[in-house]
Amino acid sequence: MTQPPSPLDRTAAKAKYGPWAVIAGASDGTGEGFARELAAMGINLVLSSRRREVLEALGEELATAHGIEYRVLVQDLMVAGAGQAILDAADDLDVGLYVSNAGADAVGRGFLDEPAERWHRMVTMNVTNVIDTCYGFCRKMRERGGGGLVIMSSGSALGGIPFLSMYSSTKAFESNFCEGLWAELKPHNIDVLCVLAPLMDTPCFRRNTDGTGFLMDPAGAFDPFEVSHDALEWLPHGPLLMYPNLVGGEDMRPEMAERRARVEAVMALGSSFNEPAAT
Ligand SMILES: NC(=O)c1ccc[n+]([C@@H]2O[C@H](COP(=O)([O-])OP(=O)(O)OC[C@H]3O[C@@H](n4cnc5c(N)ncnc54)[C@H](OP(=O)(O)O)[C@@H]3O)[C@@H](O)[C@H]2O)c1
Repeated sequence: MTQPPSPLDRTAAKAKYGPWAVIAGASDGTGEGFARELAAMGINLVLSSRRREVLEALGEELATAHGIEYRVLVQDLMVAGAGQAILDAADDLDVGLYVSNAGADAVGRGFLDEPAERWHRMVTMNVTNVIDTCYGFCRKMRERGGGGLVIMSSGSALGGIPFLSMYSSTKAFESNFCEGLWAELKPHNIDVLCVLAPLMDTPCFRRNTDGTGFLMDPAGAFDPFEVSHDALEWLPHGPLLMYPNLVGGEDMRPEMAERRARVEAVMALGSSFNEPAAT
C-alpha cells in the first residue's frame, strides 16, 4: 500500500484520538478492523451496528485482551434520528475519534427499479446521519482542543457508476464533505480523513454479491483489516486516502497530493469569506 509520509506515533495518537472512540458499523470488515487497532492502542470503544451479539462478543474479546472499556449501541443507520442516537450513547464520554464506517449499497440495482424510499434510506445513512454525527462529535472535539474523524467512502466517489448511481453519489458527498472539513478543522487540531476504499473482501460485500453474477476474486480484492490499518496510519495526513483499482496497482500519492493542493488553494480563497471587507 501507498505509505504515509511518516508512521503513526501510536502514543501521541492515543492521547489525541482517545480516551474514547466511536465506530458506526463496528461488527465486521473495516469497522471491526478499526476496533481491533484502536483497542490495541488502549482506546476505549463505543461499538455500534445492528447485531448486538456480534458487538458484545467483539467488545468482550477486546476488553479482555487490551483492558479497555467498551459500550454497545444497537442502531440501524438507515433510520432518521440514528445520528442523534449515536451522539446520545456517547454523550457522557470524552470522544477523541469518530469513525463513520457503515455505508455499503446492499441494493445494486437500477435507479428506477427500486422504490424511491430505498434510495432515501441510503441518503439517511450516508448523508443525513453522517452530517449529524460529524456535527455533534466535531463540535465537542473543537471544545476539547483536538481529535480525529474517519469517513469510509469509496473509489466510486470519483465518478458516476451505472446501477450504483445513488451509492456513488452519496460517497461523493462524503469525500467532498471531508475535503472541506479537513481544511476547516485543521486549525482546531482535528484530523479528518476520507477513505476512498477499493474493492475489499468484506463479509458485507460477500453477502451483497452472493447469488449474483459477480465473482469475488479474493486475490484481486483488498483485505479490510489492512485498509483500516492504513486509514489510521494516514489519519494525520488527510484529506483523502486513495487506492488503485487492484491489489499491487499504482502508487496513489501523486493523485492524493494533487487533491490536497486543490483544497489548500480553495481554502485560501474560502477564508476570505470569513474576513471583514476591506474599507
Ligand atoms: N467492500 C467493498 O468492496 C467496499 C468498496 C468501497 C467502499 N466500501 C465502503 O467501506 C465501508 C465498509 O464496507 P463493508 O463492505 O464492510 O460494508 P458495510 O455494510 O458498509 O459495513 C459493514 C458494517 O456496517 C454495519 N452496517 C451495515 N449496514 C448498517 C446499517 N444499516 N445500520 C447500522 N450498521 C450497519 C455492519 O454491521 P451489522 O450488520 O451488524 O449492522 C458492519 O459492522 C462502507 O462505507 C462501504 O461503502 C466498501
